[in-house]
Amino acid sequence: MCGIVGYIGKQKASPILINGLMRLEYRGYDSAGISTIEADGLSIMKDKGRVKNLYNLEGINDLKGTIGIAHTRWATHGKPSKENAHPHQDNSKSFSVVHNGIIENYNELKKFLIDNGYKFYSETDTEIVPNLIHYYYTNNNNESGKMKFLTAVKKACSDLKGSFALEIICKDFPDNMVVVRKDSPLVIGKGIDENYISSDIPAILSFTRNFYLLNDFEYVFLSRDSAEFYDKDLNKIDKETKSIEWDATSSEKNGYDDFMLKEIHEQPTAIRETIGAKFNENSKCEFDGLDFSKDYLSSLNRIYIVACGTAMHAGLVGKNVIEKLCRIPTEVDIASEFRYRDPLIDDKTLCIFISQSGETADTIAALKLSKEKGAKTLAISNVIGSSITREADYSIYTHAGPEIAVASTKAYTSQVVLLVILAIYFAEILESDSENLVKLKKEILELPKQVEQCLQLKDKIKEFAKRIYQEKDVFFIGRGVDEAIAKEGCLKLKEISYIHSESYAAGELKHGAIALIEKGVTVVGVITEPTLVEKTISNIQEVITRGAKTLIVTNQKVDKSMFDTVLEIPETNPFISPVIATVPLQLLAYYISKEKGLDVDKPRNLAKSVTVE
Ligand code: M6R
Repeated sequence: MCGIVGYIGKQKASPILINGLMRLEYRGYDSAGISTIEADGLSIMKDKGRVKNLYNLEGINDLKGTIGIAHTRWATHGKPSKENAHPHQDNSKSFSVVHNGIIENYNELKKFLIDNGYKFYSETDTEIVPNLIHYYYTNNNNESGKMKFLTAVKKACSDLKGSFALEIICKDFPDNMVVVRKDSPLVIGKGIDENYISSDIPAILSFTRNFYLLNDFEYVFLSRDSAEFYDKDLNKIDKETKSIEWDATSSEKNGYDDFMLKEIHEQPTAIRETIGAKFNENSKCEFDGLDFSKDYLSSLNRIYIVACGTAMHAGLVGKNVIEKLCRIPTEVDIASEFRYRDPLIDDKTLCIFISQSGETADTIAALKLSKEKGAKTLAISNVIGSSITREADYSIYTHAGPEIAVASTKAYTSQVVLLVILAIYFAEILESDSENLVKLKKEILELPKQVEQCLQLKDKIKEFAKRIYQEKDVFFIGRGVDEAIAKEGCLKLKEISYIHSESYAAGELKHGAIALIEKGVTVVGVITEPTLVEKTISNIQEVITRGAKTLIVTNQKVDKSMFDTVLEIPETNPFISPVIATVPLQLLAYYISKEKGLDVDKPRNLAKSVTVE
């Protein structure tokens, strides 16, 4: 979590830094700050609260420096406060540092520094970093110039356990900056006589399309017109830029009130782009870079799909399709649990990791473990060059465009579409059920149009949202793949409306949770599984009997008079119905949040990219 931005060029740095931070606020937004190199040394300006508060700080407009670093925080160590906000400096104010990640051994290093006379003024793990760099810098009489700066950073980083993306400026180097990363994202955008640094690409996309992607423990010595790269032992290395196709306007609101609403409406395009040229009705599925054989797929003992949050919910849909089309046992795991449960992995296991950002620490850790145990690993991400795609043996991409709102919408539906196409690709290699596959492909091509139709339900959904926005508890139920849809609708609601919600397999409710159903409680039922319609309706009947208010999302024939509100969505193959059935649930969460007057795009306590374990 946390977002970092840096600028080194000829323009005044502070507006560029603050502008970049605003675009990164989805990564954390409890405090923010910048440090620039001014004529009289390093300046620091920071405060508790949103990035925009920086504009109110006295003297911020007087900053003239053309080099600077900046940070928006999501608190891990120490409460949100001015003292804990970044940047942090060493005691002699020679170095300013911003950090994204967690230093796990900071207590031990803090003790070492205190024993060496250093004092600490914040509760953060980060404050040890500038002091440690200062310690190695002042104790190095063998080197001078940039190697002295780089060696101090390298020695400090070698002591750190955990994850970090760091930007460091030093008063002795008024024309330079050093950056490095380990397990936390950091990219460098190359301009003309200027360089931009950021936690992600969209934040600086309006300045450049050419990016350097850093690997762990690569050190960069930046000047206005150059970027010198060094490996972990400070040997110089070459690095090429990568050109990014997203355009800057795709990370703007484009007239929508919020990014979430914009992203919900972008789903038809995101799905179309994700389908891309992977197949047409008469051709087999193809994925650039995948070369799985029939022998390999037939030899698999199992597939694991590992992810977090919404991406994990997409995985649940993927499991359903892979098992049914390919008959390969498939398990879905929450990434933060996966590596601690000693999973059964060997070279006959395929592990699929889903992450919109490609930077989720739990997912990356699970991927590394799977590789160590000999599995082949396949990453699904929305971000080319993101950490999981660089770690995995194979990578395939959703093409949803930048997703800014914390609540994931277009990334989810694109992930589901991609997983279904992947399942078809496997099934075709395994030579199973070709007639049904052709039909399924036709149905996938209909999805963008069907999502458009679901978006037309928004007035009805808004009306229902107005009725229930003050409620305390909402339940989501469904059977089969409808349970996976219910889970996603439930997460969306609690995440942005702060209403307590639970999702259940509809048939499981009567084994306990039905005790919570009383007059007026809202139950959202999802009915898309044709073979389970009657069973699900019986379960919904059980809650109606106990006074529940019901909202039904369905593409099946049901007696509408039974329910309070019915949202009718287009009929499609049950494998892909989660794509369309989730859209009304996204809109429901959105409109409830709006009715409550909440910040839809930046819900409390959350961040878009969870780069801590
Ligand atoms: O970037 P990732 O897809 O790895 O993120 C995983 C989850 O943190 C994410 O899906 C989260 O659950 C969303 N905020 C849900 O809307």
